[in-house]
Amino acid sequence: MSADPTPAADAATEVVAADSPDTAIVYRRLWRYVTPYKLVGAIAVVGMAATAAIEASLVYLLEPLMDQALVARNLETARWLPLAFVTIFMARGLTGFATEASLGWIGRNVISTLRRQVFRKFLTLPTRFFDKHSTGPLLSRMTYNVEMVAESVTSVVTIAVRDVLTVIAAFVVMLIQSPSLTLYVIVVFPVIAAIVRALGIAFRRYSDRIQDSVGEVTQVTEEIVRGNWVVKAFGGYDYERERLDRVDERNRRQNLKMIRVKALGVAVTQVVFGFGVALVIFFAARESLAGNLTPGNFISFFSAMMLMLQPIRRITNINATLQRGVAGAHSLFQIIDEPDEVDSGAHRVGRVRGDVEFQNVDFAYDGKQESVLDDVSVSVSAGKTLAIVGHSGSGKSTLISLLPRFYEASDGAVLIDGISVRDYALDNLREQISLVSQDVVLFNDTIANNIAYGHLAPCAPAEIRSAAEAAHILDFTDEMPDGLDTVVGDRGILLSGGQRQRIAIGRAILKNAPILILDEATSSLDTRSERRIQAALERLMKDRTTLVIAHRLSTVESADQIIVLDAGRIVESGTHADLLAKDGHYAALYRMQFSSGGPAADGQ
Ligand SMILES: Nc1ncnc2c1ncn2[C@@H]1O[C@H](COP(=O)(O)OP(=O)(O)OP(=O)(O)O)[C@@H](O)[C@H]1O
Ligand SMILES: [Mg+2]
Repeated sequence: MSADPTPAADAATEVVAADSPDTAIVYRRLWRYVTPYKLVGAIAVVGMAATAAIEASLVYLLEPLMDQALVARNLETARWLPLAFVTIFMARGLTGFATEASLGWIGRNVISTLRRQVFRKFLTLPTRFFDKHSTGPLLSRMTYNVEMVAESVTSVVTIAVRDVLTVIAAFVVMLIQSPSLTLYVIVVFPVIAAIVRALGIAFRRYSDRIQDSVGEVTQVTEEIVRGNWVVKAFGGYDYERERLDRVDERNRRQNLKMIRVKALGVAVTQVVFGFGVALVIFFAARESLAGNLTPGNFISFFSAMMLMLQPIRRITNINATLQRGVAGAHSLFQIIDEPDEVDSGAHRVGRVRGDVEFQNVDFAYDGKQESVLDDVSVSVSAGKTLAIVGHSGSGKSTLISLLPRFYEASDGAVLIDGISVRDYALDNLREQISLVSQDVVLFNDTIANNIAYGHLAPCAPAEIRSAAEAAHILDFTDEMPDGLDTVVGDRGILLSGGQRQRIAIGRAILKNAPILILDEATSSLDTRSERRIQAALERLMKDRTTLVIAHRLSTVESADQIIVLDAGRIVESGTHADLLAKDGHYAALYRMQFSSGGPAADGQ
């Protein structure tokens, strides 16, 4: 049975499927995250070595306990032995604590470092990167992969030091107690180990598939939680129920299969193990008859053998543990190594005048053949307004996204005050531009903090309030008990579309940059609010270069210049009156709107 290739399954397996990394290189690089903690690492290593020695001495002491204290009833031994055990257990507690605490400390520090590096990277990656990668896998790298890497690093260290030393120490105890019995075990043990390993591999094969179908359950559940309006409105109940039943059933079956395999594995292992133990007992009995083995020797020998089992199992699996870490680390390093946004410009100004010019600009999105912008040339003098109109998908948003350099023109140039936007330092360039974009993005914070988002944060409340007033935000916040301190919820979910848009406008008003970009800034507003905001925007647009995109032509009528985009080309330009007189594309768009029931007809 193979799982459907759902996106969730892809996300779950992405870590492993990433192009096969060079284990040694990745691990060496990962190692560099651990080396700053040398001192703590040394404590951990000493702790682990001591733990191994202590555990071996514990099983070693079983011999005098048995032979001298219990069988021979030696009073002297009976006196010091309990003390020895108490001391050993205290030491065991101490070394155990030292090991856990120091390894945990290193692990959490590695997690923090990696997580911060990836997060910082997300802040400076170009927009192109986010177009190419879906959110789910990126988020899982931040959470799941980071944890997995640290877990792998600490496990590998533990195995390499504590487990290896434990096995060696236990082996020494076995040799001391009975060399010949040790020889028998060396022959018997690999057979048992091989069988147990084969069972382990079968078990893992099933458990991998089960992970996939857990992803499917999550996926379906997440979709109905997010899309509950659509499910309700379109009566998707039966469809969703069936879908969940299907993935749930698959998950149930695979889990049952795994439980069976697991239980069978345990049972078979025990039987195999029983045979092994029987053989050891048989040899032990022979040795004892020959007078080579005391009860104490045997108990101590047997305990040492048991002590080895878990460490040996982990040592034989060390490669899987290592690979898990390598795969996780590789996926993180891939992000960390992604090139940042190009920021090679050095030009800085306090405040630009605001002349904007597009010179023969071509643009195509990554991996797409067809160009979205084709030889676009237009200029706006400082303080003037350029309106961009055109059908949906004609390239309006793309054109304005070149100005703050969210994308780079593939050919031609975008200039501010006669200087290419590439020559400005990126932060300086973006300081010059206020943007009210098509999708309003709000953060789960108060309205005031959303208005003052970014480097404007330390703003006087009075300034925020006056921006809020200008954007007609006070119209609705004054009715709220917490006013501007109302929290807007996840992505602003607690506000209406129009309210969200007004906050975005408030943000632009507060930023007070010389260039203003409005992309559909008033699309979610009713006519009355729109008119009020229009007034606010007009005040804002005064003395500022403004690029405004609007489907509603009534909002662009007063622009100094209008361009009409069609499939990425400027097909017309002029003032409202010019273009109406031309009776071309613009006039057609204009007539269409006013004949089809009002200015909002083409609103998105
Ligand atoms: N991130 C992207 N990656 C690839 N193609 C894109 C991307 N964004 C937009 N496009 C494509 O580029 C073209 C222009 O899109 P753009 O968003 O500029 O249109 P628009 O004129 O703003 O439309 P609307 O009026 O609907 O907002 C469209 O064909 C669209 O499919
Ligand atoms: Mg758009």
